[in-house]
Amino acid sequence: MKKSRVLVSGGAGYIGSHTTVELIAAGYDVVVVDNFSNSDMSAVENVRRITGADIPFEEVDCCDRTALRRVFEHYDFDSAIHFAASKAVGESIEKPLEYYGNNLSSLLNVLSLMREFGRHNIVFSSSCTVYGEPDKQPVTEQTPRKSATSPYGNTKQMCEDILRDSVAAYDGLKGIALRYFNPIGAHPSALIGELPRGVPQNLVPYITQTAAGIRECLSVFGDDYPTPDGSCIRDYIDVVDLAKAHVAAIRRMIEGKEKAPYEVFNVGTGRGVSVLELVDRFQKVNGVKLNYRIAPRRAGDIIAIWADPTLANTELGWKAERTLDETLAAAWAWEKHLREKE
Ligand code: UD1
Repeated sequence: MKKSRVLVSGGAGYIGSHTTVELIAAGYDVVVVDNFSNSDMSAVENVRRITGADIPFEEVDCCDRTALRRVFEHYDFDSAIHFAASKAVGESIEKPLEYYGNNLSSLLNVLSLMREFGRHNIVFSSSCTVYGEPDKQPVTEQTPRKSATSPYGNTKQMCEDILRDSVAAYDGLKGIALRYFNPIGAHPSALIGELPRGVPQNLVPYITQTAAGIRECLSVFGDDYPTPDGSCIRDYIDVVDLAKAHVAAIRRMIEGKEKAPYEVFNVGTGRGVSVLELVDRFQKVNGVKLNYRIAPRRAGDIIAIWADPTLANTELGWKAERTLDETLAAAWAWEKHLREKE
């Protein structure tokens, strides 16, 4: 039987590379496109090493519709997973036009070309940021979205709406938005993981770089929040588990098991973990001492959010499997692997 092929836009990135590995493991063919705006070819090469598959790769910016059209002309795929987007909250406040331009036009191009070429299934990378500061925990897919506090968050809401409206208008087009909570960790091979450029903005890369001696001290942003230990709470989801959720979403549409042409799923563990708890677990699991201090709150941070993943558990048949300890061990193994290469 001919294998289904999946277009993976942004497939050299952190989540895209892990998802490509899981798609291959699940028996799909892929074609990966990336413009290397926040990634490089080593991720694609390492995905090839992990999978042993000769993965087709095209260096294409999804905002360049002519270049992207060539990919549609050349490859026969019926499904796409659209990761390609910019994702730094702070940067989006400084460069709103770049963020709106990049994140919206890349999705618009993928959708228009899917329509033009009669391709059917798309999974979109959304975020729990669409819930803002929720009134009630955990959040379900019915929890109301709140107005976004950054252009980045706004692009996620706008892209969800673009997808919903497109699916409603165009016969045969189906879409799933996956709302990721906080993806962390790395592949157990330690060949792929997060590759932050410059000073990491996210917690776990900052922790691993501090443990490796690249950063002097981790700042814990706030210990006076109304939470049990005073630090913010998030739902940290292992990147390999998250990758598998994409495979489940694609399979659901390919097999025609969707309940509606447009669906939304939370992808989280269902467990809230505070910053201080995470720091503590990282030290214990990896046997390292982390230099950290309490710093003022970071502007724009929400206090607490964690997922109710019941819908993904029951409908996608997907569940987060790796423990926080396994994930933090993998994050540290990846950091050490990067340092050995230097
Ligand atoms: C944010 C966005 C998320 C986006 C992600 C990508 C929200 C609610 N979430 O996640 O949608 O996909 O960025 O960049 O907008 N922290 C420290 N010290 C540090 C770094 C972080 O204490 O050096 C704390 C933060 O205050 C926060 C937690 O660690 O409480 C997680 O922070 P981070 O990893 O940046 O992710 P979010 O801000 O939750």
